[in-house]
Amino acid sequence: MKIAVFGATSAIAQAACRIWAGRGAEFLLAGRSADRLEAVKGDLTVHGAQTVVVCCCDLSDTSRHAEIIEQGERAIGPFDLVLIAYGTLPDQALAETDFLQAQNAINTNFLSVVSLLTELAKRMETRHSGTLAVISSVAGDRGRQSNYVYGAAKGGLSIYLAGLRNRLFHKGVKVLTIKPGFVDTPMTAAIKKGPLFVKPAVLGAGIVRAVDRGSDVAYLPWFWMPIMWIIRSIPEGVFKRMRL
Ligand SMILES: NC(=O)c1ccc[n+]([C@@H]2O[C@H](COP(=O)([O-])OP(=O)(O)OC[C@H]3O[C@@H](n4cnc5c(N)ncnc54)[C@H](OP(=O)(O)O)[C@@H]3O)[C@@H](O)[C@H]2O)c1
Repeated sequence: MKIAVFGATSAIAQAACRIWAGRGAEFLLAGRSADRLEAVKGDLTVHGAQTVVVCCCDLSDTSRHAEIIEQGERAIGPFDLVLIAYGTLPDQALAETDFLQAQNAINTNFLSVVSLLTELAKRMETRHSGTLAVISSVAGDRGRQSNYVYGAAKGGLSIYLAGLRNRLFHKGVKVLTIKPGFVDTPMTAAIKKGPLFVKPAVLGAGIVRAVDRGSDVAYLPWFWMPIMWIIRSIPEGVFKRMRL
């Protein structure tokens, strides 16, 4: 299987890739740290990957996306599976008062992903095959005062993915929306860990399982599905009074 990973140095992406490497997958790994990409390449090779090609790039720069995808497919062949895993968790307080902070967060977590998906969808659509697996977040299911800028970006992404899935279903292409809860990764290093936190390996296994099953939306771990159902069900008049 030929797999492209955008944000390949993400702890969650690495956990999923280790499992795919064990199945002898071929990889294009895109990320912005050359050293860390080389480290991931070494790790996946040890775990059984057949071919690993790395591409060092800042994925928030949309001007290079078409070229990166073109070169990636030339290097390993047409992608069977794409995992989009990069993201940033902005400082909510800063993003409330400084538009540039909010703009950067929305660009990285939403708009730049739309740019990649636009190019990738065109290619998979003409081939009538492939899976686009994209990491969104439970934070996108409802706006909360503690992280609504990040939540808005992920919520927009989830809606975009639902529409894309509806369009590409008729073309034989699968779109998987991954909605993790709290995961213990560098992104959440500054957050106090509670009982709902899980390790990246749990997410990696969940992502691989969801891709294998051809799922549409995967809450990971599963218990976030009922939690978010309850959170979405709270009437707005009550919700706005809560401190979440
Ligand atoms: N951890 C959680 O609790 C949680 C919950 C819900 C959703 N998620 C989502 O899960 C995904 C993976 O995050 P993670 O938890 O695995 O955290 P992570 O290990 O910190 O990974 C985030 C990755 O995004 C990369 N990245 C950020 N901006 C980039 C850019 N402009 N160009 C290229 N790469 C960029 C980072 O690269 P650098 O190392 O070079 O900065 C890093 O590899 C993200 O989409 C995140 O929003 C995480």
